[in-house]
Amino acid sequence: MKTRVTNKIIMLSVNILFVTLTPALAFAMDSGACLDCHGDAGVVGDKLVIEALGFDSTAHAELGCHSCHASITADHPDDGLPPSRAGCAECHDPVSREYAASLHAENAGCSDCHNPHRALGPTAVSGHDMNRQCMACHDRPDMVALHGEWLPQADLHISMLPCITCHSSSAEYVISLYLIKRQGGQYPGGLELASHAELSAIAGGRPIEQLIDRNADNYVSLAELRMFNLDPENKQLRLQGMITPEGVSHDFRSRDDRWDCSFCHASGPAARQVSFLSLVEPDGSFKRVAVEQGAVLDALYGTPDFYMVGSTRSTALNYVGLVILAGGLVMPIGHGTLRILTRKNRRHEEK
Ligand code: HEC
Ligand code: HEC
Ligand code: HEC
Ligand code: HEC
Ligand code: HEC
Ligand code: HEC
Ligand code: HEC
Repeated sequence: MKTRVTNKIIMLSVNILFVTLTPALAFAMDSGACLDCHGDAGVVGDKLVIEALGFDSTAHAELGCHSCHASITADHPDDGLPPSRAGCAECHDPVSREYAASLHAENAGCSDCHNPHRALGPTAVSGHDMNRQCMACHDRPDMVALHGEWLPQADLHISMLPCITCHSSSAEYVISLYLIKRQGGQYPGGLELASHAELSAIAGGRPIEQLIDRNADNYVSLAELRMFNLDPENKQLRLQGMITPEGVSHDFRSRDDRWDCSFCHASGPAARQVSFLSLVEPDGSFKRVAVEQGAVLDALYGTPDFYMVGSTRSTALNYVGLVILAGGLVMPIGHGTLRILTRKNRRHEEK
């Protein structure tokens, strides 16, 4: 981690040095000046507009437009020169190298998944929005059919999990709770996140976190969760949980242990108990509030719309839980069998 940051600082210093030494950049048009034109579709047209609100909250905003479009002169746009664009690898060396080595690198470039003017880390993007990044190329119905070959309720799983929870690795996974409108359809699976404006209206002018964190101590207790879920005032909202990674490796492959149902459906102390309330900001990014441990297992009141094993609502799920609990043997056998069945595929891929 430390080396990553140090590397970045070195790369940045190199970049800044380069920027200062480039004669065309003796002048400095700050991001605000760029946005005077590029923040307004009336001036630059729909295709060249950058949404200032979305850009301002990103780490890239601190770098400023110039760090990436270094060739722009004071005469832009009248000079007719095409502005330069920094490559992501100039500053994101480790991620770029990891991704370049992946099988996925030939399928998509950084900008196919990331808007450089809207670059956010995994905890600031909702699981739904992450899936939209993937579904731009991997059609949802195709994915449901493909995964349904081995995954029961594939549709539900794909609605309730970011693709990258299974197709990327992270040192840690947590449960992120999102506020969903009871009606809607914009999101896959018919789920629609409530917008900041909608939540503000329901909160009646209070900060939206106080819909749940009633005592405003920046911590959601089990008691507060229960109060939220039982309060008829909130009947148009519900909490939906997703298992999200705290970091993202850019290898995007199919991870062997994600065949293993117990990776998620586990009981007991190893079960995923760390959760956060993920709250939408006015610009559509997310911030988090820590939730008391065990909320997800408090099936009745904690998170009535999110059951992992240990809950009592679903016989199917409890059955899976029982199978896993009945012996560590069953899944490994299933897993082994699947490996054998897909052996041919795998050999092919390894080439
Ligand atoms: C006076 C308004 C104005 C300002 C200020 C301005 N731009 Fe532009 N920019 C334009 C227009 C108009 C175009 C389209 C030019 C064309 O098509 O020939 C453009 C084109 C661009 C493009 C190329 C888009 C493409 O793909 O064709 C980039 C990148 C860009 N501007 C970045 C910036 C940055 C960064 C700044 C600040 C340093 C900036 N602009 C300041 C008006 C402006
Ligand atoms: C982190 C680097 C980075 C920063 C900071 C950045 N840009 Fe860009 N910009 C890019 C890249 C890369 C592209 C090309 C995107 C692509 O190919 O899809 C781009 C494309 C553009 C375009 C062409 C239209 C588009 O969306 O593809 C415009 C206009 C533009 N940038 C303006 C700006 C302005 C104005 C700012 C500051 C508010 C800014 N950029 C800040 C990297 C950056
Ligand atoms: C001029 C240097 C520079 C360039 C070029 C650049 N970035 Fe960044 N980027 C940064 C810095 C600095 C940060 C904040 C530190 C961090 O979190 O990595 C950042 C943060 C990010 C984040 C958010 C990470 C987080 O956890 O908050 C993403 C995503 C990202 N960049 C993607 C890209 C992509 C995609 C490109 C190419 C289109 C790109 N960057 C180009 C410097 C750059
Ligand atoms: C720009 C298009 C594009 C985007 C966006 C995209 N992919 Fe892909 N992906 C492809 C193509 C093309 C293939 C190869 C054909 C196939 O398997 O569908 C592929 C293959 C894959 C594979 C199989 C890789 C292998 O080695 O067997 C996985 C897993 C995958 N993508 C996951 C993802 C995930 C997760 C996301 C979102 C974070 C994503 N993809 C976003 C285009 C894309
Ligand atoms: C519950 C975990 C899980 C989720 C969620 C999930 N996948 Fe998968 N996915 C897998 C596993 C396991 C495989 C099988 C890999 C194999 O065949 O070896 C797979 C296979 C694939 C393949 C085909 C890979 C190949 O080798 O041909 C693609 C493409 C893919 N997934 C993309 C996605 C996308 C896009 C999403 C989100 C919409 C997604 N997956 C969600 C676990 C998951
Ligand atoms: C197939 C889609 C895909 C591609 C291609 C991709 N990313 Fe990402 N990346 C993601 C997703 C999904 C996240 C989670 C946050 C988000 O959704 O923006 C992420 C997160 C990141 C982060 C934050 C990582 C962390 O753990 O905090 C950085 C930095 C980043 N990407 C840079 C890049 C760069 C640089 C490239 C090109 C070399 C790239 N990404 C290519 C999908 C992609
Ligand atoms: C990456 C995590 C993950 C993996 C791996 C996984 N699941 Fe799930 N599963 C979930 C989530 C999340 C839900 C949705 C829980 C909810 O909200 O009700 C779910 C729901 C289910 C349900 C439906 C429960 C209901 O409420 O109707 C069944 C059945 C199920 N999973 C079985 C399996 C089986 C069998 C496997 C292995 C082949 C598996 N799951 C692998 C995360 C996972």
